Amino acid sequence: MSKKLLLKHAHVEGIHTFDVYRKHGGYESVEKALKMAPDAITEEVKASGLRGRGGAGFPTGLKWSFLAKPEGVPRYLVVNADESEPGTFKDRYLMEFIPHLLIEGMIVSSYALGANTSYIYIRGEYSWIPDILEKAIDEAKAAGFLGQNIQGTGYNLEIYVHRGAGAYICGEETALLESLEGKRGNPRLKPPFPAVKGLWACPTVVNNVETIAAVVPVINLGGAEYAKIGVGKSTGTKLISACGNINKPGVYEIDMTITVEEFIYSDEYCGGIPNGKRLKACIPGGSSVPIVPANLLLRTINGEPRYMNYESLADGGFATGTMMGSGGFIVLDEDQSVVKHTMTLSHFYAHESCGQCTPCREGTPWMFKILKKIASGQGTLNDIDLLWDVQRKIEGNTICPLGDAAAWPVAAAIRHFRDEFEWYIDNPDALTGNYGIGNYD
Ligand code: NAI
Ligand code: SF4
Repeated sequence: MSKKLLLKHAHVEGIHTFDVYRKHGGYESVEKALKMAPDAITEEVKASGLRGRGGAGFPTGLKWSFLAKPEGVPRYLVVNADESEPGTFKDRYLMEFIPHLLIEGMIVSSYALGANTSYIYIRGEYSWIPDILEKAIDEAKAAGFLGQNIQGTGYNLEIYVHRGAGAYICGEETALLESLEGKRGNPRLKPPFPAVKGLWACPTVVNNVETIAAVVPVINLGGAEYAKIGVGKSTGTKLISACGNINKPGVYEIDMTITVEEFIYSDEYCGGIPNGKRLKACIPGGSSVPIVPANLLLRTINGEPRYMNYESLADGGFATGTMMGSGGFIVLDEDQSVVKHTMTLSHFYAHESCGQCTPCREGTPWMFKILKKIASGQGTLNDIDLLWDVQRKIEGNTICPLGDAAAWPVAAAIRHFRDEFEWYIDNPDALTGNYGIGNYD
């Protein structure tokens, strides 16, 4: 059984309230942290090996150590709660059921970074969650953990919840900052990174909800103890939101030592595939990461079991591996069409492109059109080559990772399931109805 650090008390009745949360050890990390020097907290986070849980897996302590500290210039912590990656819903779970864990992590992190104002930028579609967070903030304030002179230490912190308006691109950290500043959420060129020039051109750390929540056990246990959980550079625990063709969809906390096979088939997690169907493929890290067929999902090309961690999932690079990403684990059984699935994703990226870069603005709808043509039995073999060519021209040629995120699923689908694309071309008469395509026009 995986060790639980974040969801340990998730099922305790009333854990969303300050009193119950406090009775279960809540806010002890704040009491501990406020007795430490801010830089010592960053050192603990570095020692823990905690990596960003939003998708990129960047080392959190390292990111914090990049924060510029010019005299007299405010610094900010911004929590990225714009969780919009298809298949990803673990931050929602945390915020909805254990809101104080995020607030507690924010207090410790803000103190470490020297921030006196911090923000939670939450996706517009999570319309009921800001009230939950604001109630938790009010309760923490009433108990002396937020506001002026926190716990008599002289440290001041205000946390504000900012509601997004429903654009996927606002989850990209610089687009998020633009939006928080009241502008259209267009990504900025990096560098400068937000750590140097972020919110209102001030040094800013942008971290995912789960990352900041994980700072709580890092401080409670100490960085070195936290680093003992997991394996290699995949330390601590990770939340996985599992969905698709599985018996038990939901949010699971794993310690990154379990195999993919165990995660899919064990009753503790996904509970296997309904109706005895066979596993066809999986997208283990949210829609932006490459799809992998069952044979490469359960084993690497060397025949080693594939594990649910950053290194093992990526083993073999994009040719045979994939990525941990945001932990949005989407399972496809033998009845699913990879062509239609890829088409649906392409429509999503085309819709969400902000339009700043030509390859993304023009390439994403072009990929969707080709996929729709193939899925409706109108495609030719040349269309597969054209599709490959278009995605190659997007990848690496755009301002933000949305371009790559749109290209990778297409590349992986062609690489691993070319025969299925060809089947659609060779068997147009076998297609009936609207081919599950829906109304995309
Ligand atoms: P990234 O690799 O560009 O950056 C990671 C973080 O490290 C950023 O905060 C960046 O500012 C910081 N960083 C990197 N180098 C730095 C340096 N030299 N100095 C200072 N800071 C530095 O990746 P990004 O754009 O943050 O995330 C992309 C990932 O997000 C994708 O791989 C995807 O998996 C994931 N994603 C997650 C979504 C969700 O809903 N959770 C939605 C869409 C994408
Ligand atoms: Fe906008 Fe796409 Fe360019 Fe990102 S890659 S800045 S979403 S056009």
